[in-house]
Amino acid sequence: MTDINQLSPWPLLKAHHQKLAATPLSGLFAQDTARFDKLSLRLPGLLADYSKNHITEETVSLLVSLARAAGLEKRRDAMFAGERINQTENRAVLHTALRAAADAQMMVDGENVVPAVQKTLARMGQFSEALRSGAWTGHSGKEITDIVNIGIGGSSLGPQLVCEALGAFHHPRLRAHYVANVEASDLGGTLRRIDPETTLFIVASKTFTTAETMQNSHIARDWLLAHYKDDSASVAKHFVAASTNTSAVAAFGIAPENMFPFQDWVGGRYSVWSSIGLSVMLMVGADKFAEFLSGARDMDAHFKTAPFEKNLPVLLGLLGLWHRNLCNYPALAVIPYHAALRRLPAFLQQLDMESNGKRVMQDGKPVPVATGPIIFGEPGTDAQHSFFQWLHQSPDVVPVDFIVCAKPSDGTAAQHSMLLANCLAQSAALMTGQNNTAEPHRHFTGNRPSTTFLLDALTPYTLGLLLSMYEHKVFVQGVLWCVNSFDQWGVELGKVLAKGLEPEIAGTASPDTTRDASTAGLVAHIRSQST
Ligand code: F6P
Repeated sequence: MTDINQLSPWPLLKAHHQKLAATPLSGLFAQDTARFDKLSLRLPGLLADYSKNHITEETVSLLVSLARAAGLEKRRDAMFAGERINQTENRAVLHTALRAAADAQMMVDGENVVPAVQKTLARMGQFSEALRSGAWTGHSGKEITDIVNIGIGGSSLGPQLVCEALGAFHHPRLRAHYVANVEASDLGGTLRRIDPETTLFIVASKTFTTAETMQNSHIARDWLLAHYKDDSASVAKHFVAASTNTSAVAAFGIAPENMFPFQDWVGGRYSVWSSIGLSVMLMVGADKFAEFLSGARDMDAHFKTAPFEKNLPVLLGLLGLWHRNLCNYPALAVIPYHAALRRLPAFLQQLDMESNGKRVMQDGKPVPVATGPIIFGEPGTDAQHSFFQWLHQSPDVVPVDFIVCAKPSDGTAAQHSMLLANCLAQSAALMTGQNNTAEPHRHFTGNRPSTTFLLDALTPYTLGLLLSMYEHKVFVQGVLWCVNSFDQWGVELGKVLAKGLEPEIAGTASPDTTRDASTAGLVAHIRSQST
């Protein structure tokens, strides 16, 4: 393992960065009329234009040599080969097997895992067909109309994003709800809108131990049982699970035939392709879900085989590293110009920040440079009327990912032209700026980078492409920084402390006098309010 500072292209990149800084972005366009062609990439369904970033072909070539020096090829191949690259959890990382072709071979510990993946997919397909057709009914014989996914983190963000994004393909009878938060109004608000006799709950949890999910699931089950006068047979018709933890699912009271399993080599934030995506399949059908998987599969093949210079996840990973470590940009704004992609920034927050928000390398030594950026975003054009002011005129510079579709999902041609014009105008404005020294408040410095992802249309296939592209981008950066992108130990401490605080707050345990004065003061104030 060689830290990034020690890789031979690193000093060359630093010198190159300094030299390039002298020419503004618009100057780079003026110097090279073929810049767009050279710094954009077309794949079926997706055009990625990264020409509005402060790079040249020489930058790409230096970055690619950095990736080679870091052993990216070997690490990528190790992931696809099912090696236990998630060292701290001693696990393989094989979410790519979830979208592999049915006849592919993907091995973990000498076993081809694809047949088991296909078996679960087939079971999900049968269940989904039964529920959608009305053959699967609730306990009182009524058709299911509402699907409530109870899960959090990767067991919610991915399914919710994909489900909303594919709203145009939803079954007309079905509505999907996502309950994640332990704050009572999340579940309570949903329960008030649904009928127990026509609702299916999916308990989505890789571990089946996550406190919020378990609490919400127990409350939902009690709510159902209260309606059916404690007839426990009702649970079998209204509860299914997506999990790796067979015994905990059974202990909860969900029958084995209602459990859709996956394996520990699927990380939570990479699990939407597994049975965690069941709510999506129920809403859009097995065929559309298969198209979603096929988009990801094609991106996997591209990532595996394309030369680094023309390999989209590799280029994006390296571009992000350039922004973070050479340009010192602290964040990345993700702006989908599609209301149905509203949850994309939240999904990418977990994907990127939980994967690469790490301070030590795999050998335990500190990473010598900054790692993953802060991800934030909102749909355009809404965001133009909130934080875009900051993007254009703040002294800080933050690169932007614009995501937009050439063809509309809905509405009129005029609406869509306005949307596209706004998206393109923003990236042009960020780059070119506007000189106005007479009125400094109207002056735009410009020279602000962005990348535009132009999907042909928002379809299951292009969504699969897009999400898999981001997954592999994050992987590339993790390799360059030598971090383990597949664990999340940083979330553990808070969980442990919360367990200890809960009885103190509830008043069933006396306050721990060894706590810091701030936490103790807050606990005391809360307790005083409840008496
Ligand atoms: O606490 C973080 C985390 O482990 C995420 O990585 C995961 O997506 C989420 O919790 C939910 O976990 P589970 O699916 O096991 O309930």
